[in-house]
Amino acid sequence: MVLYGLLDALDSSTLPFTITLILVVIVFCVLFKQNRRKQREPPVLLNLIPHLGSALTFGADPLKFLHNAKESLGSATFASYIAGKRMVFFTSPSSWPEILRAPPSSLRFDVVGLEVMANAFSVPNSKAKMAQIGVGGKATHAQFIKYLSTKEHLDNLSSKARDSLYTTLTATAATAAATTTTTLPLYGTIFPIIFRATMCSLFGNDHPLSTSSSFHEDFSTFDDKFPFLAGGAPPIAFKGATSALARLASTLTYKTAPKDASGIMKARHELFSTFDMSDKERSYCQVVMVWAAVANTIPACAWTILYILKNAEAKAAVEKEVRGIASGAGDYDVTKFDEMPILTSCVTETLRLTSASLTVREVGSGGFQMKDGTKLREGDRVAIYPPILHFDNSVFEDSKTFRYDRFIKSPELASKVMPFGGGISRCPGRFFAQREVKAFVCAVFSACTIDLADPSTPFPNFDPNRVGLGINQIKPGEDVQIKIRPTNKQN
Ligand code: HEM
Repeated sequence: MVLYGLLDALDSSTLPFTITLILVVIVFCVLFKQNRRKQREPPVLLNLIPHLGSALTFGADPLKFLHNAKESLGSATFASYIAGKRMVFFTSPSSWPEILRAPPSSLRFDVVGLEVMANAFSVPNSKAKMAQIGVGGKATHAQFIKYLSTKEHLDNLSSKARDSLYTTLTATAATAAATTTTTLPLYGTIFPIIFRATMCSLFGNDHPLSTSSSFHEDFSTFDDKFPFLAGGAPPIAFKGATSALARLASTLTYKTAPKDASGIMKARHELFSTFDMSDKERSYCQVVMVWAAVANTIPACAWTILYILKNAEAKAAVEKEVRGIASGAGDYDVTKFDEMPILTSCVTETLRLTSASLTVREVGSGGFQMKDGTKLREGDRVAIYPPILHFDNSVFEDSKTFRYDRFIKSPELASKVMPFGGGISRCPGRFFAQREVKAFVCAVFSACTIDLADPSTPFPNFDPNRVGLGINQIKPGEDVQIKIRPTNKQN
């Protein structure tokens, strides 16, 4: 009302000037508030774009952004606005243990997890909270440890993945050999093989997600838009993705609970059935596992094969090691995957080079003070970006190069590779994920003859939309072509 009265009082010749002045003052106030720094708080990176802040610069090249900001501010810890959130980046790995070990109520993961559940998986926040009580709380943390890490369950998951991988891979290679198809896209070929194997492990061989290829497209459609949805974009803008999610979730209702599902999926099913949720909401909470189990494992498999194929010495060494455990019929002992130093080193090196995960916490009520005195405001998002360590030449010599035996020569470096995040939110599926990647490489090199269609093909670029989410994906349109045949029927 006051503003209308003011505008009325102005004559039309001064109106445009007055409106511009008001807007400038508002922008100035927002920028002043954003860039203000209180005592003992980290320096603030000057942002001239309200709300969006440094989102575009960070997304375009996170390492360059972090190094430039650190240098220009003269501080390894600094605050910056990213898409409306005040993020405090800790670029020095020496500060990471303190953050990852902070009490969960001081540096909270639950708020961050709930936000993703609500934004990307359409689980209403209060319902998500109940599911999260399980996920982040003692009950489901214990479930994750029991059903994703203990030998019996891990061996069970890995054996199912191994069997499916071998069968589907050899069938794919045989089809390629029997037809005129001379080359296949690497990522496009791997995707359905890993998706199916992971679904067989989690839900059993007869579950619709394991048997029907229509869900491959649904997963891709949802996963493509996942970064936008998780970032808070309105679901209405991504109707195709939300419909695809609904179709995936419709296979996971209470009534369709599969008999031969894995221990983890059965345990979650039972836990969610005790919550005050609708059947539909429970199925959306379950579909989170589908995304978590597949979204990073597929690119991890693709990059591992690609790095090995690009390096003749690595390929020869891996092939020799695989022959040592695999009979060629795919019935190798899954526990042997943990005893393959060359393949383990290749997988860790691949994860080091391709990981882009961001570990985020929200500062709880009352703020938080670091041991060095740095003060963090309540509501600040604290961010750790492990690739800043992965590409530190003083730690990983010649850090941009794939050295297949890096972790055989320097085993102590393996603990500095953090593709699975850290602290309370550290990926509980990491043991299974690494076994699955190894099972896939073993199936490829024991049963197939595989080569790049053109050995001089350059490495594809990373898809910039995936920054912060896990393993980088190949930029759309840059998939590389491979030649693959069953070993006993060479071309
Ligand atoms: C190469 C493959 C994988 C990578 C790189 C990966 C990476 C990650 C990362 C970075 C996080 C978040 C950590 C954080 O916020 O600090 C995470 C969370 C999670 N991952 Fe994985 N993951 C992989 C495979 C898997 C698999 C196969 C499963 C399940 C079978 C799985 C289940 C989960 C779950 C349930 C969470 C959420 C944990 C929580 O909310 O506490 N992941 N993963």
